[in-house]
Amino acid sequence: MSTVKEKLIENLIREDKSSQNKITIVGTGAVGMACAICVLLKVSTVIVAFLIQVLPLVSFLDYSVSANSKLVIVTAGARQQEGESRLALVQRNVNIMKSIIPTIVHYSPDCKILIVSNPVDILTYVVWKLSGLPATRVIGSGCNLDSARFRYLIGEKLGVHPASCHGWIIGEHGDSSVPLWSGVNVAGVALKTLDPNLGTGTDGDQWKNIHKQVIGSAYEIIKLKGYTSWAIGLSVTDLAGSILKNLRRVHPVSVMVKGFYGIKEELFLSIPCILGRNGVSDIVKVKLNSEEEVLFKKSADTLWDIQKELVF
Ligand code: LAC
Repeated sequence: MSTVKEKLIENLIREDKSSQNKITIVGTGAVGMACAICVLLKVSTVIVAFLIQVLPLVSFLDYSVSANSKLVIVTAGARQQEGESRLALVQRNVNIMKSIIPTIVHYSPDCKILIVSNPVDILTYVVWKLSGLPATRVIGSGCNLDSARFRYLIGEKLGVHPASCHGWIIGEHGDSSVPLWSGVNVAGVALKTLDPNLGTGTDGDQWKNIHKQVIGSAYEIIKLKGYTSWAIGLSVTDLAGSILKNLRRVHPVSVMVKGFYGIKEELFLSIPCILGRNGVSDIVKVKLNSEEEVLFKKSADTLWDIQKELVF
């Protein structure tokens, strides 16, 4: 007896059912769900598989649902509590990465991994090591969000849409991040040429406070609602779009910076990178002025102090 389907449809070719756009999101907390909703709404052709984060005793994961993902977004892990820094989460979340990453890579050996869990820069290093993937395919969401917050606040101060305000934050996604005041511009007019003290704390307009507000954003939101979710969800969507659609847009994301700006260690920090279907294909060689270089090195040292003690 033929089925209704067989009576209705004559199949002509065997279709390759593996999606070129499959995304897996690991972690179904506030960040994972915000990423899922934003990705589905804005990068709409993707299939999203969710993996519940591993609990210490009970795990009800079926990793096979993630098979052949092109992008794996990792949001699982302990999150900051009120007043807690991102760096304080490190050992707890390293252990979670250990329990997730090898199986993820087993099922999706060709994937790119986008780390969102905090402290994102150190965890990106840890995931790179655990995954065995090339560093160009392991990316931390890093300062993409800090830079968006920076541009929003610059826009507010100037009364100009943030999309027309250009400014980059590099280094740690967190307290030691580095604002590149020398590059802040509107329509190609560098604000630093209008006030050479811009961002130093001695300019009349107190531009430095904008960076302080960027650093304080997550602390403030956690105090008000307990966690951050939507801004990082949108920021991740932006990155996922560049990768899956091979847009080659430039984003400040966390990548291996050994060999750049005098960094000698295997550290992941945000610098402007070109993102496309192969992950990070290129790095934009931004010229830092001497103060910016010192701050970037300081940010690297802050992370190295923690990273060098990690056992995993
Ligand atoms: C934030 C989290 C993602 O800055 O670190 O909102």
